[in-house]
Amino acid sequence: MVISVANQKGGVAKTTTAINVAAGLTQLGYKVLLIDSDPQANVTQVFIHPQVEIELDQSLYHVLVNFAPLSPIIRSTGVPNLDFVPSHIRLSGVDLELAQAFDNRSARLHQAIQLVRDRYDYIIIDNPPSLGLLTINSFVASQRLIIPVSTAFFALTGLVQLQETITMVQQHQLNPDLSILGVVCTFTETTNVSRDVEQQLRQHFGELVFETTIPKNVSLEEAHSNHSHVFDHAPTSKGAEAYKALVQELLARP
Ligand SMILES: Nc1ncnc2c1ncn2[C@@H]1O[C@H](COP(=O)(O)OP(=O)(O)OP(=O)(O)O)[C@@H](O)[C@H]1O
Ligand SMILES: [Mg+2]
Repeated sequence: MVISVANQKGGVAKTTTAINVAAGLTQLGYKVLLIDSDPQANVTQVFIHPQVEIELDQSLYHVLVNFAPLSPIIRSTGVPNLDFVPSHIRLSGVDLELAQAFDNRSARLHQAIQLVRDRYDYIIIDNPPSLGLLTINSFVASQRLIIPVSTAFFALTGLVQLQETITMVQQHQLNPDLSILGVVCTFTETTNVSRDVEQQLRQHFGELVFETTIPKNVSLEEAHSNHSHVFDHAPTSKGAEAYKALVQELLARP
């Protein structure tokens, strides 16, 4: 199954969720590929040695712009059963670079994934904070979406536009199979604002909102700077507990 983690709002824990859901799935024995489709390359920075520089032709850019095969670009994260596809800052120009393309430019990632799909139980795609061509490529390539929403003020801004984009992908036959696996409340804390926003989300999205919420927890941030995931870095932390519960919950959904 291919799952995108997306929300055009920045800093809502897309990357943290992509990494820790992917790692949580490997802990249960699944083989997972994590695709970094964000020009900010945060997943790549977590799993690449700081001194190592990714060349353009070793990144997702080469696949999306030059039709290179995905397979030679896949790297091991060092975490058992977890591979990844690195991003490159030049991905930020993809919208412009492909503006004149005559092929179905929103299906390039989908096409590239087909040849490696059988090797993995799950392919998880981390997305940039935008609804541009990179995110559209991910939506066309995915069956399911996980939407992290930070329970801070302004959290709900943009969710209507996100839903409209999903509907557009479904209705224009770009990917009729796309659906929301779940909305996950992130950065939850025991404040009135956090509780109110969570309540509004549950009112708006109903059962699509996962029961599991991801609390503010410093171990999650520390795991990134330690070039790891939370189950490795702080297995007994609140962050690890929350992502473990989220993985169990999402596996139970169709
Ligand atoms: N539950 C949490 N508790 C504390 N810090 C967190 C939590 N989740 C994420 N963070 C930290 O918050 C920051 C933003 O998270 P992250 O990078 O996952 O968001 P993002 O949605 O991917 O951002 P962007 O839109 O820029 O890609 C990061 O520094 C991350 O380590
Ligand atoms: Mg990110």
